[in-house]
Amino acid sequence: MALRTPWLIAVFAARLASRRCLLVMPALLVAGPAAAQDVERGEAIYRTWCQECHGEDGKGDGPAADRMLPRPRDFVAARYQIRTTASGELPTDDDLMRVMREGLPGTAMPGWPNLSDDEKRDVIAYIKSLSPFFERETPETLERSADPGGGVEEAAVGREIFERLECDRCHGRLGRGDGSSAASLEDWRDLPIRAADLTEPWLFNGGMGADAIHTRFLTGLDGTPMPSNQDALEAEIVTEQDLWHLAHYVASLGPERAPDVDEVVRIERRETLPGGPDDEAWESVRAFYVPLVGQIVEAPRQFSPTVDGVWAQGVHDGSELVLRIAWDDPSNSPDPEWQEWQDRIAATLYADEIEIPTDPLPDLLFVQFPSEVPEGRERPYFLMGDGRDPVYVWLWHSRRGAVEARAAGLGAVEALGSAGSGLAASTKWEAGRWRVVFRRPLATEEEGALGFEEGVPIPVAFFASDGSSGETGGRGAISSWYYVVLQPPTSRAVFVAPLIAMLVTGGLGMFAVRWAQRSVHSEGRG
Ligand code: HEC
Ligand code: HEC
Repeated sequence: MALRTPWLIAVFAARLASRRCLLVMPALLVAGPAAAQDVERGEAIYRTWCQECHGEDGKGDGPAADRMLPRPRDFVAARYQIRTTASGELPTDDDLMRVMREGLPGTAMPGWPNLSDDEKRDVIAYIKSLSPFFERETPETLERSADPGGGVEEAAVGREIFERLECDRCHGRLGRGDGSSAASLEDWRDLPIRAADLTEPWLFNGGMGADAIHTRFLTGLDGTPMPSNQDALEAEIVTEQDLWHLAHYVASLGPERAPDVDEVVRIERRETLPGGPDDEAWESVRAFYVPLVGQIVEAPRQFSPTVDGVWAQGVHDGSELVLRIAWDDPSNSPDPEWQEWQDRIAATLYADEIEIPTDPLPDLLFVQFPSEVPEGRERPYFLMGDGRDPVYVWLWHSRRGAVEARAAGLGAVEALGSAGSGLAASTKWEAGRWRVVFRRPLATEEEGALGFEEGVPIPVAFFASDGSSGETGGRGAISSWYYVVLQPPTSRAVFVAPLIAMLVTGGLGMFAVRWAQRSVHSEGRG
C-alpha cells in the first residue's frame, strides 16, 4: 500500500507533465478516489451520456453499439482493458478515472472533459454498481520494476524478445497488425478484433510511451486475445528487464507523439523527381499526415474503418508532379486469406445495409481535386462532389492501378476519356503498408481534369476502402478537404547553388557550405 501510492503519483505526474498541465496535480493529490460517490447522481449522468452506447442495463448493447468495433464495454460482465491490476482482475477507481479523462484512443470511447471530477466519480460508482464482482474484490495496483531506460542496444534486445514471445504472430513483422493470425482474431464475445498497429501508438487504447506499454504487458488487455506477459515472467521465459526493453522497442516503432496535422501539403520543387514507391529519395521529402474517419454521412456507412490516415508526400519539377501516398492496411486485398475476416466483419457491422459480395474485394484509394483551380476558398462537396460541382479524381484500384475519373457524388464516378492527362501510378504493398506513387504532367487539355499551377492552394481530399473489411460502394474512410501547394522555385536557392560551387573551388570549403545551407534553410522557412 505504502509503495503503491507514490508510484501512481509518479505515473500521473509523468503523464501530466508530458501534457504540460501540471496545475492539475495538487487537485489530484488532495481529492483521492475515496471522496464520496453518489450512485444515483451517477445513474443520471449515465442515462444522459453513456446509455446510447453502453445500453440501458450497461451490457454494452445501446442503440449505437451495433455499428461499433470494438463494441462498448459490458459493465455487467466487467472485463476491463486499461488497468494497473493483474490479468483477470477488476480496475481500480484511478484506472477508471483515467479512462474517463482520456477516453480510449483508437475506439469510439471519448474522454469526458465536460464532466467534473466529482461527476466522473459518481458515474464510476454507478457503473461499478452494475456488476456484483466489485462488491467481492478490492482491486490492487501491480507493483512494477523501475524503468532501466532504453537506448539502441536495449531496443535490439527488445526486438529479440518481440520474436521470442511471437508478438509478430498477431502484430506482424513490422508491427502493422498484419500477422499470420490477424485475420482470425476474436474478442471474448467472439467478435472480430484487429491487432493494434504498433506504428500508430497515438491510437493505443491505454496511451503511448514505454511506461503505458509496459503496464499493458503486465496487465494484459482483458477480453481481447492480447495476452498478459505475467506467465512468461513467472516461467522465466523473460525477465523484468526484458519486458522494459520490449516496451522501449515497441515505443520506437512509432513517433513519440501524435503526428501534427497541417491543412497544407507542400509539394516541393526539385530538379529531379523521386521514382517509384521505394525510391530512397522519398526519405528526404516531408510527409504530411492526413487523418481519415469512417464515412457515416451516406449509406452504406462505415463507423469502424480500417484505414485511419494517409501520409502524403509530393515533389514537382515545373512540368510534372509526383505524389506518394502511404497508408497502413494489414491486408493486401483482394486476399482469399482474409475472406473469413471479410464475412465476419460484414455479419458484425453491416447487417442492415447493402449486401456485400462474398468474393474477396479490392482495396481502393480516391484522391479528389476540384475540376478547376478554385477562386478563393470554394470547395466541392467533400463526398466526391455533386452534380453542380463535380470533382476530378485519381482512382486507384489494388489490382488495376490508377485511372482518372470525374465524380458527382459517391455513387457517380466515371472514368475520363481514354487519353486522360497522362496519369501513371506505381504501387507496392509490404508488411501491412500500401505505397502508391502517382505521376502526372502539371498541364492538361483534358476536359474535366485539373491543371496544376504553382503557388496556388488546390483542395485535395482522400477516401480509402479496405476490401477485406467489406468496404465497397462508398463504405470506407474519408478526410475533409486539405490543400496541396506546388512550391514555386526559390529564387535564392537557384542563385546560391552556383555560388557554393564557386566558393568551394575557391578553397573556402566547409564554411561556405554551412553558410549557404543556413541561408537556404531560413529562406525555406520564411
Ligand atoms: C460513442 C459511444 C460511447 C459512449 C457515448 C461512451 N462510451 Fe464508454 N466505451 C465505448 C467503447 C466502444 C468502449 C470499448 C472500447 C474497447 O473495447 O477498446 C468503451 C469502454 C468504456 C470503458 C472501459 C474501459 C476499460 O478499461 O475497459 C469504460 C469504463 C467506459 N467506456 C465508460 C463510459 C462512461 C462512464 C460513459 C459515459 C460518460 C461512456 N463510456 C460513454 C463507447 C462509448
Ligand atoms: C494473439 C494475438 C496477439 C499477440 C500474440 C500479441 N498481441 Fe498485442 N494486441 C492484440 C490485439 C487484438 C490488440 C488490440 C486490443 C484492442 O483493440 O483492444 C493488441 C494490442 C496491443 C498493444 C496496444 C495496447 C493499447 O494500449 O491499446 C500493444 C502495445 C501490443 N498489443 C503489443 C504486443 C506485444 C509487444 C506482443 C508480444 C509480447 C503482443 N502484443 C502479442 C493481439 C495480440
